[in-house]
Amino acid sequence: EDKGLKTYYQDYFPMGVAVSPYAIKGEQAELIKKNFNSMTPENVMKSGPIHPKENEYNWKDADAIAEFAKANGMRLRGHALVWHNQAPDWLYVDENGEEVSKEVLLARLKSHITEVVTRYKDVIYAWDVVNEAISDDPDEFYRDSKLYQICGEEFIARAFEYAREADPDVQLFYNDYEVINPVKREKIYKMVRGLQDAGVPIDGVGIQGHWSVFEPSEETLRATIDRFTGLGLEVQVTELDVSIYKKEHTRREKLPTDDDTFTDELKKKQIEQYDMIFKVFRENKEKLSSVTFWNVSDQYSWLDHFPVPDRKDYPLLFGEDNQPKEVYWTVVDF
Ligand code: G3I
Repeated sequence: EDKGLKTYYQDYFPMGVAVSPYAIKGEQAELIKKNFNSMTPENVMKSGPIHPKENEYNWKDADAIAEFAKANGMRLRGHALVWHNQAPDWLYVDENGEEVSKEVLLARLKSHITEVVTRYKDVIYAWDVVNEAISDDPDEFYRDSKLYQICGEEFIARAFEYAREADPDVQLFYNDYEVINPVKREKIYKMVRGLQDAGVPIDGVGIQGHWSVFEPSEETLRATIDRFTGLGLEVQVTELDVSIYKKEHTRREKLPTDDDTFTDELKKKQIEQYDMIFKVFRENKEKLSSVTFWNVSDQYSWLDHFPVPDRKDYPLLFGEDNQPKEVYWTVVDF
């Protein structure tokens, strides 16, 4: 009999899942209740969706997810207060269409963070305060976003301070992807160290974990977890999935070698990869305070439309039919 993912892992860490409004209704809702005890809103709490105009918030979808979490006794991770992506256009310009000053942008960020954090104070235990501020380019430190262009690196420290002011008890995270890449990892380490040294209120680092059947290796995964826990902060895996494709973040076209079929060979590779990943996670249970999957089942994954449109992926533990895949049984059998 299947006890459900969260029960097998009850002595390890909470099991989380990223959800959009469709997932908290119908079949996926049942799957969520049985298997997960933590949720992250996939999109609806990002600044664009939740704050479309300066004086207008769209709370409906975010409230529905918060209510679902409360009703089912689940933990909720907030995602994400400050991100260059899915941010509303109004944020950066004044009423004449001119780019705003650093002071104005920081004031807008403060007001946004205060409103959103305060509203979900009773249910959100941790926030991704700043998401993906580090560049993928080895020759560049910070990502060259609008936020950075207008404020420089200062927006990062200020965002954490505004969030702390709004809720003294919530855990505050920096969250990023490709942290298995040693160059990017060291930049993140350095930035977080700098924030700590400056007395900025940061509690944790989120390892997104958008991985594949090809990476990371066990050695790299261990090195990544060790490096961040070495900061003395909470470490969480915030956006786990294991794609069947090689990762190339800049590629947007389907290659002739991309085949949408989930072959037996790939299934086997995925089982081995998830098996290794969860073995390492379990061994690090004192250091990892949460593991969250990015989407519920292979019925829908963000990877079905990114980086290549219309390329089906099979990155999760539950299948297109919302039933446990073979890999699920490997992950819960230890
Ligand atoms: O809501 C609109 C809809 O009105 C419109 O018709 C449709 C047409 O394209 O787009 C819809 O918005 C899409 C949105 O997801 C909601 O489905 C956006 O185009 C699409 O870009 C957006 O993708 C999200 C992506 O972040 C944005 O970069 C993914 O769902 C979401 O899974 C993904 O999540 C991110 C994390 O927040 C941060 N880390 C990486 C992770 C994966 O990229």
